Amino acid sequence: EVTDAAGKYVLPGLIDVHVHSRDGENGATYKEDFYHSTMSAAAGGLTTVFEMPNSNPAIYNAEMLEKQIKHLTPKAHVDFAIWGLCLGKLNMHELQALSEAGVIAFKFFWGYAIDSKTYQLIYNYSPGMENAIPPLGDGEIYQMFAEIAKTGKLVGIHAENFDLIQTLTREVEKSGDKSYAAFLKGRPNVAEETIIQTAISFAKQTGARLHILHLAAKEGIDIIKRAQEEGYPVSAETCSHYLALCDEDFDRVGPVMKVYPPVRRREDQEMLWSGLKEGVLSLVSSDHAPHTEEEKAGDLWSIPAGMASIETLAPLMIDAVSQGRITIHELAAVLSEKPAKLFGIYPEKGSLKVGTDADITIVDLQVKHTVKKENLHSKSKVTPFDGFQLTGAPVQTIVRGKTIMKDGEIVSGPVGKFIKPLE
Ligand code: DOR
Ligand code: ZN
Ligand code: ZN
Repeated sequence: EVTDAAGKYVLPGLIDVHVHSRDGENGATYKEDFYHSTMSAAAGGLTTVFEMPNSNPAIYNAEMLEKQIKHLTPKAHVDFAIWGLCLGKLNMHELQALSEAGVIAFKFFWGYAIDSKTYQLIYNYSPGMENAIPPLGDGEIYQMFAEIAKTGKLVGIHAENFDLIQTLTREVEKSGDKSYAAFLKGRPNVAEETIIQTAISFAKQTGARLHILHLAAKEGIDIIKRAQEEGYPVSAETCSHYLALCDEDFDRVGPVMKVYPPVRRREDQEMLWSGLKEGVLSLVSSDHAPHTEEEKAGDLWSIPAGMASIETLAPLMIDAVSQGRITIHELAAVLSEKPAKLFGIYPEKGSLKVGTDADITIVDLQVKHTVKKENLHSKSKVTPFDGFQLTGAPVQTIVRGKTIMKDGEIVSGPVGKFIKPLE
């Protein structure tokens, strides 16, 4: 096969470390499945995705991981890794085995109390476990950090202070104010900030490598930066929606924009861009979390959080290159090099290792296009980016030497493989 890449940029395969494809033996596949999410990934220029563990069943031990690998492999259009879920004392003693079985990293839904709808949802994903799960106390979380530290893998946290959110949201609900500003009052920056602070102190004491998932609040940046300057292995990501949107977009975009943590204010958006430029934030993920259009149609308080964002991740970041926000080198760093290094799938000198053998994304910086939700390859067409006019796009996705996407079309069946961190 001859590829004419003249005038284009040939980049190392782009990676999305944060994807909820909803698939699994009892998956919510009416929302999304792995066949569609990875097709969407390939269409959007990604060669590797990291699947989150809040699937049904959830990925909380080695056996569940093995099953999920078998379940997902035939549907994978791109290579994939899988996160392991931390459930406190329920799987404290399974973490070593789960690590050896090949999870890419470990995830905490910190701050999701047992009586929160979302936390229930995570647990209801796991048949027979519905009533068995107590809310995680700080002591338990500390112990899990210590366990994970032994594996050398990252501990990723969803940082939202649920006690605070519950209290504030109740107050806002009483006021009857249904505006986006009221929604933000219920889930303020400080709810994120306080958990990040606690997590960093736990990481410092246990030696765990900490990764802050989907940072949305500007306050997080300084706290994370300080820990990094002190020499602690603390990293963070933000998502394309926090970079491309702010509260001012709500009137136009509507409830589709609801996501946890919420899209915040313009000053947060600007600070996240600077944090990325400065390198305090290592990478950008999609947090692809699809729901159906019907589910997303209600009012802000009752609808689920999350959007279909896997296919627009790279295009939005490529557009940022065209706009002069970041350089093409920074793009390659935040969507490929840095995630590969952080999660341990970066090739060693002179060797071809897992996930790196001719995983290539070819980018055209000139092409102008408009995001159309009906053209997304995901099952869910719920995107806040419908109608966005972008300059630059991924035009070819190559996984282990095989072209999966060419000029926006999927040209191959599933060839994706499960990948583990290098030993
Ligand atoms: O908005 C979100 N949706 N945030 C999360 O942390 C979970 C995700 C989901 O799985 O729906
Ligand atoms: Zn999350
Ligand atoms: Zn997520």
